[in-house]
This record gives sequence, structure tokens and C-alpha cells, in this order.
Amino acid sequence: MLKFKTLGQFIIEKQADFPFAKGELSRLLRDIGIAAKIVNREVNKAGLMDILGQAGSTNIQGESQQKLDVYANEQFIAALRCGGECCIVASEENEDIVPLSDQAKYIVAIDPLDGSSNIDVNVAVGTIFSIYRRVSASDCGLSDVLQKGSEQVAAGYVIYGSSTMLVYTTGKGVNGFTLDPSIGEFCLSHPNLQMPRTGTIYSVNEGNYVHFPTGVKQYIKYCQVEDQATGRPYTSRYIGSMVADLHRNLIKGGIFIYPVTASAPNGKLRLVYECNPMAFVIEQAGGRATNGSDRILDLEVTELHQRSPVFIGSDAMVRRAEAFMAAAGELTFNDYSL
Ligand code: AHG
Ligand code: MN
Ligand code: MN
Repeated sequence: MLKFKTLGQFIIEKQADFPFAKGELSRLLRDIGIAAKIVNREVNKAGLMDILGQAGSTNIQGESQQKLDVYANEQFIAALRCGGECCIVASEENEDIVPLSDQAKYIVAIDPLDGSSNIDVNVAVGTIFSIYRRVSASDCGLSDVLQKGSEQVAAGYVIYGSSTMLVYTTGKGVNGFTLDPSIGEFCLSHPNLQMPRTGTIYSVNEGNYVHFPTGVKQYIKYCQVEDQATGRPYTSRYIGSMVADLHRNLIKGGIFIYPVTASAPNGKLRLVYECNPMAFVIEQAGGRATNGSDRILDLEVTELHQRSPVFIGSDAMVRRAEAFMAAAGELTFNDYSL
């Protein structure tokens, strides 16, 4: 008798939560899980691929070597095309939407490889995905993709780390599955993930400090002040892969901030396939996600590759950072004195 539950078993069981569902969403999640395993295999041998690439720039099938983020993009799109449940893919790697089957009901937005600058140095990377129901009756198009994050029916991420995990939500809590490479299955390892209400980790690229809004500067200073009651000074942890930074903070408690900066006046991270899916997961785990004042999931989406500042993580910590932003009357960049 199996002592663990696989992702496939779990998805089928959970289909009962959606009495009118016909199994399309379950099949879509299954397809994403399959592509994640293929990408995991390639991420794990990224160093070897470099060696092969230098030797002749072709792989064993005679195809040219590709950057892993392009490879990951192709794998996810191929799995979704093959599965037949997805009408449009919106991807970080494609300037325009990728139409698949006009018969299908669902839209998938994806960051196929998040933190890709970390691949060369063997540091954790991820995949982020978001699923919407299409709104058009026929001729699906960009307007099907430009829905508010609150309309997501499922979202999640894969972290290719010291172990590989798939974490997702369908709006009824968050569950995490760890890939057991010996059987090639994601197994339920973190049922009903709850994020600590507060924490002692702050994650922000402090190299950009001088370009941050005053409220963020003051919040960072707040994190660094000694205070026994709140466990300060907090610990600074920043990997540079949003998935990995948020996964750690989800488990341990913490805040992740990517604010507007002088050079990125709308922030860096993308609303459709980075901020919205991560916000859905974090909220479902009891955390909070805003742009410094407004809920991420309620933001209007007008462009496929739209950016947003993001303050995301443990509820109490995000509220505190928002209070600093409000007190400073943000969003401004005029105080370089701190
Ligand atoms: P991607 O690799 O998909 O382009 O995303 C990288 C993102 C995100 O994962 C990370 O948190 C952030 O960029 C890091 O940016 P900085 O190097 O500016 O801190
Ligand atoms: Mn990314
Ligand atoms: Mn990416």
C-alpha cells in the first residue's frame, strides 16, 4: 500500500470540490506537472549541457542547444498544446499571446524559468503559472488574458532547488508536492501550507537602496533596528529568484519587496505571470500581497507584460511596510539622505 499521495491522485480527489467541473482543470494541472518534470531533468544537468554546448552546440538529437528559459518555455507550451485544455498561453518568453486550441476553456500565463540568471551558478530557479477561465465565447484573444488576478482559478510555482517542489492553489488552500526522483512523481509533502502571520526575514535587493522610495528605505531601516519584542534586527535573505525567495518566506515567515525604483518606475516584476500567481498562492496561505497600497489581485491588467511593484509575504510584515509607504506619502524618490 502506498504511504504517500501523488500529485495525480491528489488532483483527481480534489476535483470533487468543483461539482460542475468536467476534469479539464485537473488535466491542465497534470500537464503542467509533466512539463515541470521534463524541465527539472534539464535544470539538473545544466552544467553538463554547457559542456556539450561548447563541444558542438548540438544535442544528441542533432538539435541546437538552447538557453534553458527558451527550452522551458517550449516544454510547457508543448505539454499544454498536447493536453488540449488550453486556448491561449501567455508567456514571459513570447511577446504576443500564443494561441493553442480555440475549443479549450482555459488560459495559462507562465514564467517558464524564473531567476534564470541563477542557472549558471547552480542556485535555485523556478516556474510560475497562473490559470484563468476564458471569457470569450469564440475567437479567444488578448482580452481573455487581461483579467484581474482575482479571477484566477488556479496558480502555483515549481521550485527547482535542493529538492524540486510543485506548490499550487485552486482557491481552497495551498498544497506542496516534492518530486521523488526515484519514482518520478510529485508526492504530497506539505499539505495545507500556512504562512506565519509574521516573521524575521526581509528580502529586497538592497543594492538598489538609493533608488528606493522613502517608505521602503525607512522600512528597511526599521528591519535593521534592535528591538527584542519584535525580534529585530531581522535577517536579510535575497536569492534573486522570486520563486525561491518567496518559497522560503512562505515556510519561515518573511516579506519580499520589489518596489518601484528610479530606473524601473513601474517596478520590475510582471503582473500577469509573476505577481498575480504568487499573490494568489501567498493569500491562500494566509499572507498578503500589495503594490505598497493596493491589493495585487485587484489591479487592472491592461498589458500582457505589465509590471508592478510588489510587497508580498507575512500579513503583519506587509501591513507594516505599507504603513511606512503611506506615512512617507509615496510613491516618491526624492529622499536620498537615509
Ligand atoms: P526572470 O528570471 O524570470 O526574468 O525573473 C527574475 C526576477 C525575479 O525572479 C527576481 O526576484 C528578480 O528578477 C531579481 O531582480 P534583481 O536582480 O533586480 O534583484
Ligand atoms: Mn521571473
Ligand atoms: Mn523568466
